[in-house]
Amino acid sequence: MLLASGEGRVLGIQDRDTAHGKPGKANFDQLYDLEDPREYFKTLGAFDYCVPRHGHRVFRALTGALGDGVRGEDKGGRGLGVVDLCCSYGINAALLKNETTLDELYARYGSAEVAALSSEELIKADAAFYGERQTGTSPEVVGLDVAPNAVSYGVRAGLLDGGFAGNLEDEPTDALGRAVAGADMLTVTGGVGYVSERTFGKLLDRATVGSEGRVPWVAAFALRWVYYEEISDVLSGYGLVTEKLSGHTFTQRRSTDDEERDYVLGKLASMGVDPTGKEDGGWHHTDFYLSRPTGEAGEPVEELLAPVL
Ligand SMILES: C[S@@+](CC[C@H](N)C(=O)[O-])C[C@H]1O[C@@H](n2cnc3c(N)ncnc32)[C@H](O)[C@@H]1O
Repeated sequence: MLLASGEGRVLGIQDRDTAHGKPGKANFDQLYDLEDPREYFKTLGAFDYCVPRHGHRVFRALTGALGDGVRGEDKGGRGLGVVDLCCSYGINAALLKNETTLDELYARYGSAEVAALSSEELIKADAAFYGERQTGTSPEVVGLDVAPNAVSYGVRAGLLDGGFAGNLEDEPTDALGRAVAGADMLTVTGGVGYVSERTFGKLLDRATVGSEGRVPWVAAFALRWVYYEEISDVLSGYGLVTEKLSGHTFTQRRSTDDEERDYVLGKLASMGVDPTGKEDGGWHHTDFYLSRPTGEAGEPVEELLAPVL
C-alpha cells in the first residue's frame, strides 16, 4: 500500500501489521525511526492522529495533581519525573514541557519553511523553538523507545530531558534503570499493545529503586480492542490500584481504510464492546487508565480529570 502524506509526498508503508500480531491493522513502522519527525506528522496527520492532544490535557492535569500533593513538596522545587514509554520523537514531552499544542506542531512540521531544512538544521531550529516555549515548572521527561534515531532527535532537539533506545520488552540496561529510578509517573500514548505487561513489570522494578517506597503513577491511553487486564494485574503487584475512566473515550486516529475498520470492528465484537458512534464511524478510540498507590487514589479519576474532559 502506498499512502500519500499531507504535502503530496509519498511514503511506502508495509501493508499490514502482521509483525505485531495485528493482521488487519495498518503498519506505520517506517515512520518510527527517521532522522526527524516530519514524515511522522505528515503521514499520521493524514489520518488525524490525535491521541497526544488528549495526553497533553490529561498528563498536565495529573502532573498538576502530583505536584500539589506530597510528591511536589518532597521535590523541593525540582520538576517531577515523568517517563514516557514508546515516546517516539518526544511529542508527549514537548506538549507537557512547553507552551505549544499538537495543532501548532502539525503546522510547524508540515510548513514549507521547515521542509527546506536538513535534519541537522531542523534539530537546531527546534532547540530554539522549544527553548522559547518552556514553562517554568515543567516536569523532567525521559523518553523510552525502541527507535534510536527518534529518541536521539528528541533529546538533541530539546523535546526530551533524557532518552533511552531499546526494546522495552527486553531486560532494561543499568543506565535505563538509573534514568527511571524514582520516577513519579509513567505515561504512554499509542504504545500499549506494542509493549506488554512485561515492560511495566520491568520498569516498575527499576522505578521503585531508591524511591523510599513510592511507586509511580501509571497513566495510559490504550486502544479499546487491546486488553489492559494483564497490565493492571502486574501493576497491582506493586500496590497500584487501576481505574478505567468511565463515561469517556478518546480518539486516536481515523482508520486508514475499510479493511482496517472491519478488522477493528471484529476485534471489538469478539470482546463484546459496542462500537456505535465510535469505531463504526471509522475512528479508533482509546480508554484511559490511571494506576495509583492506594493511599494516593482518594479522588476518583473521573473527578480528577473532570476539568479537562
Ligand atoms: C504509534 S507510535 C506512538 C508514539 C508516541 N507515543 C505518540 O503517541 O506519538 C508507537 C511507538 O512505539 C514504539 N515501539 C514499538 N514497539 C516497541 C518496543 N518493543 N519497545 C519500545 N518502543 C516500541 C515505536 O517505535 C513507536 O515510536
